[in-house]
Amino acid sequence: MYLHTSTNRYNQKLYFIKLYGIITVIRSLESIIDPQSDSIFRSISIMSAPPEIKPTSSLSDIAQYLSQSSKGILASDESTGTIGKRLTSAGIDNTPEERAAYRQLFYTADIGHSISGAILFEETLYQSHSKTNTSFVTHLLHQGVLPGVKVDKGLIPLPSFDSNTAINIVNGETRTKGLDTLDASCKEYIKAGARFTKWRAALKVPPSPLALDINASELAMYAAICQANNLVPLVEPELLIDGQHTLEQAQIASAQTLQATIAALWRQPGISFDGLLLKPQMVVPGGDCPNHNKPSPESVAIYTVDVMRQVVPPAIPGIMFLSGGQTEEEATLNLNAINAYAMCNNNRTPWSLSFSFGRALQASVLKIWSEERDEEKAKKMAEELARVNGLATTGSYSGPHPSILSGGRGSLREDFRGWRTDS
Ligand code: 13P
Repeated sequence: MYLHTSTNRYNQKLYFIKLYGIITVIRSLESIIDPQSDSIFRSISIMSAPPEIKPTSSLSDIAQYLSQSSKGILASDESTGTIGKRLTSAGIDNTPEERAAYRQLFYTADIGHSISGAILFEETLYQSHSKTNTSFVTHLLHQGVLPGVKVDKGLIPLPSFDSNTAINIVNGETRTKGLDTLDASCKEYIKAGARFTKWRAALKVPPSPLALDINASELAMYAAICQANNLVPLVEPELLIDGQHTLEQAQIASAQTLQATIAALWRQPGISFDGLLLKPQMVVPGGDCPNHNKPSPESVAIYTVDVMRQVVPPAIPGIMFLSGGQTEEEATLNLNAINAYAMCNNNRTPWSLSFSFGRALQASVLKIWSEERDEEKAKKMAEELARVNGLATTGSYSGPHPSILSGGRGSLREDFRGWRTDS
């Protein structure tokens, strides 16, 4: 659809693939000669310094702060149901104390070098360190990490109308709950220290017109309500990895979803594009795609950045990708290639291309925590996962990856993240 539109563009892509290969070799040599050396990508970074954040900071300042160079967002806002499934499958009880003990690892780890914001679940926004009683919000702010909060109330099935049988059917698509109480919740969350929010819509590939319309409209209404309450909305139209779709089909669905979302945001009164952030998935094939050859990071980068360039307005400061079931290492490699592609050949993008990962920043930490209960070791892993993804936001990651899940290849797909659950 968007690709290979001209010989010129095709040559540009070939150039990127070659340049990316050369740069990867240079990076490896650099780290052998001098492991402390800075990347050549860093030296060409032109991102300006992030604004200082005060209680009176504007939406635009907060959005710029969150999407600043070399940093991304920690998504640690799993609902009680989702975190419960992860904890219990790791042998940990799903109690408020266990959830707090696990999340405390991240909020007290030294992550501020690579993390600009952390999304919390409502419960966690009001929890504190088990020993010092200092709130998690204070811990995060202390190291320059802005607290955010998930404000949606999960997914519900989206019935559609079958004109042949004249009955409502459920075809596995969803919409998201929570708009009715959102304004009142925002007023409480900002008092508790939140500076930004997240709302997740989940769509199947290919999305139906109804699912596109409803989810885009609800995302736009969510964004408007949050901005009216001085909270930066993280707008998440996630295309699920579940399915057999190819990379090309994922790209088309991605373009449709982003177009619908941006169009709904344009239509919604009161939206400031410079005071919101987007949180889409990268363009990757379905986890059950029969062609088992996974695309290279360079292909993911080209397919992803090309869609973003066609659809995302330049006023939006940052595109913060979710990891969506990719392995920890894949998510880092793909983000790194996305940034390398976006920067090469005068190909710069107007927005930063960063992360708002959940599983890809947490899975190895949970493994250590569940198997060894070693707080320092688990925190070190949280720091390392944050660090490599921070490097990937400037295209300067060159391995090795810290993941301990089958050499970084442990699958993080979860079939309960779609319509079958409250997410
Ligand atoms: P994953 O990175 O695990 O997909 O989670 C990100 C997220 O917040 C989804 O809502």
